[in-house]
Amino acid sequence: MNRKRVAVLISGRGSNMAALIEAAKDKTYPAEIVAVISNRSDAGGLMAAQAVGIATEVVDHAAFGKDRAAFERALQAVLEKHRIDIVCLAGFMRLLSAGFVKQWQHRILNIHPALLPAFKGLDTHRRALDAGVKVHGATVHFVVPEMDSGPIIAQAAVTVRPGETEEELAARVLKVEHQIYPLALKLLAEGRLQIENGRCRVDGVPVPDTASLVPAP
Ligand code: GRF
Repeated sequence: MNRKRVAVLISGRGSNMAALIEAAKDKTYPAEIVAVISNRSDAGGLMAAQAVGIATEVVDHAAFGKDRAAFERALQAVLEKHRIDIVCLAGFMRLLSAGFVKQWQHRILNIHPALLPAFKGLDTHRRALDAGVKVHGATVHFVVPEMDSGPIIAQAAVTVRPGETEEELAARVLKVEHQIYPLALKLLAEGRLQIENGRCRVDGVPVPDTASLVPAP
């Protein structure tokens, strides 16, 4: 099997990165994580990746000041060096330019801790609690120039429990994130996703089959 070569881009602890690495340990998984790239040298996930023998790279955005194009050129060079097929953003806290995103069109994924299109941006769990939603969750989607938009590949829902804290809710959402990210990457790596009118189909079916939806745990 020709496994797709994946880079995971992180800025922090990297628990989604770890979930992808774990899934890819299985030799029948259609993708392998060949590099973990961080824009911060202190990202906890870097050590975790090194510990399991995965190449790590730091492309420090601060070193490029306001020159985002130069930062992205450096990032692109690292991706090319590792002959990357697919990029997975996993808690990567930099916005990428439209030019960069277009270069990776349909080959770059992101995970967002909310049921998009609700609660784009930061502090999703706090905002979900403040809004009084009964159902919250996580989304894996293709990256497009507009932040937290782009065709949705997989979502998982959790019911909001009365009186629960932001931390408790975040922890339960994180658990389902770790389920849907490996699932979405698998579908992409197997070539099973098609995009039509900005929507993602799985195996040509507009409504995702059961495999692309993790029910509330
Ligand atoms: C996750 O909640 C992810 O959805 C969001 O950033 C967080 C990253 O967590 N984009 P981790 O670094 O994967 O643990």
